[in-house]
Amino acid sequence: MKFTKEVVEMIKTFMINNVSDNPNTLTLITCNHFQITKPTVYKYINELIKDRIIEKLGSNRSPKYQLVESVYNWKYENDHIEEDILWSKDIAPLLKNLKSNVKEICQYGFTEMVNNVIDHSESDILFIQLTVDYLNLKIQVSDSGIGIFEKIKTDLGLEHPKQSILELAKGKFTSDPENHSGEGIFFTSRVFDTFLIFSHQLRFVGFGNDDGFLFDERSDLPGTTVHMEIKKNSSTLLKEIFDEYADPDKNPSFHKTRIPVELMQHEGESLLSRSQAKRLISRFDRFTEVILDFKGVAQIGQAFADQIFRVFTNKHPDVHLRTVNKSVDVENMIKRVQSTK
Ligand SMILES: Nc1ncnc2c1ncn2[C@@H]1O[C@H](COP(=O)(O)OP(=O)(O)OP(=O)(O)O)[C@@H](O)[C@H]1O
Ligand SMILES: [Mg+2]
Repeated sequence: MKFTKEVVEMIKTFMINNVSDNPNTLTLITCNHFQITKPTVYKYINELIKDRIIEKLGSNRSPKYQLVESVYNWKYENDHIEEDILWSKDIAPLLKNLKSNVKEICQYGFTEMVNNVIDHSESDILFIQLTVDYLNLKIQVSDSGIGIFEKIKTDLGLEHPKQSILELAKGKFTSDPENHSGEGIFFTSRVFDTFLIFSHQLRFVGFGNDDGFLFDERSDLPGTTVHMEIKKNSSTLLKEIFDEYADPDKNPSFHKTRIPVELMQHEGESLLSRSQAKRLISRFDRFTEVILDFKGVAQIGQAFADQIFRVFTNKHPDVHLRTVNKSVDVENMIKRVQSTK
């Protein structure tokens, strides 16, 4: 049967969109989805292979397909390098055909993360990896320095490097307030579809990954590696994310944050005590609006709630605390402590 150009495009688009999740069964699912024969599917697969969009691995009897990836690697001495120069000299020429909003996000994330290596990592070396396929773009920025979670732990006198992740999620933490404002990771982790930081045994998962965990433990990796992924057809606008958290009239920096309270639970604790609450609310007074997201938190203790929703709010009436995704138990506990104001 001869298909119209539009139908052929549809079949190919289906295969491109589904190959990553179905590497071994691409032929089968395409046959089933369009009710077409195997030879027809093979014809279009072969065209996609010829166009270097997908590639075949494995044997002819059990083929496995994947999107063709172009991988580029750079290694720089961390000595008098400048992030914007690296971007325009090495990366931007490879991304000429990207949509302008996606290019802008990549430039922002790249320059922010490279600047972090230059200014904070104490690493001799900077590694960059760019991976491009038909649908996605991945940028990885790595160093062999002191490690981001360790650095924040030391600077803030925290007990465990895990606790650094909460501080990164809040935003406005910087080791160097004279020269920095603690914005880079806050915004970069919110504009990419996937944002991960690996350092030593910890991994921080950014906000694009809706139902993912926020951190876990893994094998030891020295230094810091930041991994950012975005779909080439993403419609995210950097400006929209800035506008959501920052008000140009309320300089300096952004005034609003949103914190997944669940992060504290991942540290392995029930949320009961005043000291935990104090750690959660530390640096809240740098914002005018704080949204506490209770997703994944079943209950909180009376002392924890009292410290935040009575003691803190009485002391800081100018910080507007909002809560979202509360369970009934959490909501009742907040009401209980607020009734004794
Ligand atoms: N590669 C790294 N190695 C070690 N520490 C890091 C690294 N990247 C970031 N950090 C730590 O994380 C903090 C937060 O980084 P972030 O980019 O969010 O803010 P900043 O660089 O301090 O300020 P800004 O990005 O607004 O200039 C840094 O101040 C530093 O303590
Ligand atoms: Mg930075």
